[in-house]
Amino acid sequence: MTDILKDIANGVMTITLNRVDKKNSITSAMYAAMADALEQAQNDAAVRVVVFQGHETIFSAGNDIGDFLNGPASTQESPVFRFLRGISTFPKPVLAAVCGPAVGIGTTMLFHCDLVYAGDNAAFSMPFVNLGLCPEAASSYLAPQLMGYSRAAEALLLGEPFMAEAALEMGLISRIVPPTEAAALAQRQAQKLAAKPLSSLIETKRLMKKGQVNIVAERMAEEGASFGRLLREPAAREAFTAFMEKRKPDFSKV
Ligand code: COA
Repeated sequence: MTDILKDIANGVMTITLNRVDKKNSITSAMYAAMADALEQAQNDAAVRVVVFQGHETIFSAGNDIGDFLNGPASTQESPVFRFLRGISTFPKPVLAAVCGPAVGIGTTMLFHCDLVYAGDNAAFSMPFVNLGLCPEAASSYLAPQLMGYSRAAEALLLGEPFMAEAALEMGLISRIVPPTEAAALAQRQAQKLAAKPLSSLIETKRLMKKGQVNIVAERMAEEGASFGRLLREPAAREAFTAFMEKRKPDFSKV
C-alpha cells in the first residue's frame, strides 16, 4: 500500500499520507492501513511515539469523495471508524506535521494528536455542512471546547477555513514554522519523547484525557450514526456529484 507509507526508526513510527496527486484524500484502504499501523504501534514495545505527516504542499483533502459516493462507511467496523477509534484512544504520544490544506478529517484527526507542528501555509477546514454532512471525530464536542462556540460555529456551520495563526491561538497546533521545516521539527520532538520513560508518558496522557474520554467515545458514535444517514441523503449526493463534475452544488431542490 503506497498511498500510506509506514516507517519505524528509533522508537518513532512515521505514517505518511502519500497520495499527493489526489491531494492526499483518504480512501477506505488508506484508513484501513492507518488503523492497522496504529494497532501495530500500540502493541509493539519498540514503538514509543507516532508521527503523522503529509506533504509540504498538502496535508489532506479529507475523505476521498469518490469513496463517499461509491461505498460509504456503514458499520462501526468500517476502516474510517476503526481509524478514528484508534487515534482517539491511542495511549502513546501522537504528533502531526501539517502543511497546506487540512480538510475535514485532515483537521479533525488533529484534535486527537498531542503535538501538531504546522507550516505557515497550513489551512484548516471542516466543511461538513457544505457537503450535506455533519461533524465527525467528536469535533462537534472538541471544536467548541477548544475554539469557543462562536468560532466553532464559523468553522462548522459556515465551513469557513482558518489559518495557522488562528489554530495556534486556539491551541489546536503547537508551533508554526516554514513548510520545509515542519516534518523535521515533528521528528525532533518525537525523538525527545521517545527518549523519555514510556510508562510516564502513557500515564500522563491518560490523566490529561481522562475527563473527556467517555464523552468523546459517545459523541463519536452518535456523529457516526448521523454521518452515515446524511451520506445517503440527496444533499450529500448532490455535493459529491458536483465535486466530481467540477461544478458548484445546487441545494435548492434538496
Ligand atoms: N476526494 C477525491 N479526490 C479529491 C479530493 C477528495 N476529497 N480532493 C481533491 N481531489 C482530487 C481532485 O478531484 C483532483 O483530481 P483530478 O486531478 O483527477 O481532477 C486532484 O485531487 C487535485 O484537486 P484540485 O481540487 O484540482 O486541487 P486544488 O489545489 O485546486 O485544491 C483542495 C485543493 C484540497 C482545496 C481541493 O481539492 C478540495 O477542496 N478538495 C475537496 C475537499 C473536501 O471537500 N473534502 C471532504 C471533506 S469531508
